[in-house]
Amino acid sequence: MIEIRNVKKSFGEKTILHDVTATMEAGKCNLIIGASGSGKTVLTKCMVGLFKPDQGEILYNGQNMLEMTDEERKQLRQQIGMLFQGSALFDSMTVEENIMFPLNMFSNLSYKERRKKANEVLARVNLKDANKKFPAEISGGMKKRVGIARAIVLNPKYLFCDEPNSGLDPQTSLLIDHLIKEITEEYDITTIVVTHDMNSVMEIGDRIFYMHQGKKQWEGSNKDIIFSKDKLLNEFIFASEFLQGAKEMRMLEEKGESPANNQ
Ligand SMILES: Nc1ncnc2c1ncn2[C@@H]1O[C@H](COP(=O)(O)OP(=O)(O)O)[C@@H](O)[C@H]1O
Ligand SMILES: [Mg+2]
Repeated sequence: MIEIRNVKKSFGEKTILHDVTATMEAGKCNLIIGASGSGKTVLTKCMVGLFKPDQGEILYNGQNMLEMTDEERKQLRQQIGMLFQGSALFDSMTVEENIMFPLNMFSNLSYKERRKKANEVLARVNLKDANKKFPAEISGGMKKRVGIARAIVLNPKYLFCDEPNSGLDPQTSLLIDHLIKEITEEYDITTIVVTHDMNSVMEIGDRIFYMHQGKKQWEGSNKDIIFSKDKLLNEFIFASEFLQGAKEMRMLEEKGESPANNQ
């Protein structure tokens, strides 16, 4: 579990995060959604320690990251896996070498054990046969899966994915979303996914945090979101007429007035 309490962050005169409070639950996909520029990435960077908030607390299992010693923070970082935008694989290394990289840095395992572990996580993301390929030889969706394998190879307790679906087609996006959700539940990870993909929201959004101009405007589940009366949230999620129509259908259905019932 990660608790964010009253976090504020400014760059110069510009306040980016205004007093954000939110709790990210373990074993769940916690989604941060919102328009471009609303502060999603800055918030996640504060959570992983890449930015230091001006005020507030970030508690990992009750311990404030901002008050940890360097050693404690270093240990925490090793429990955090990250899937970067664009996968950020090393082009000159094979898939297997990419996944072994965190193990080389942070584990005491022998070469043989590291290779074994790398190939185990590769099998978990269904890429067993791609281990000797280079990033340039595999598709965008496969690169994301390699990125996920690399993010989980050290058995993290926390997993951060910033826009994991950017640049992917809808079907591949769905596969990636489901993989992230399965891994989250299987290994009881506290997962944070930054996205503006409404399909992801509906498929995997156990907890959803909607950011608007640096404030947490709304939170709830993917079941609540359809019925939310929050004006700003509705403007964001029902930006398309198609979704607006779907919402109206669903509301009628709830009231037993669906056109389908009248036939
Ligand atoms: N390192 C930085 N220095 C100054 N401003 C920044 C920095 N990083 C982000 N910002 C600003 O913070 C705001 C929120 O950005 P970001 O969190 O990246 O939005 P998004 O919700 O699209 O991820 C933007 O106005 C952006 O320009
Ligand atoms: Mg961003």
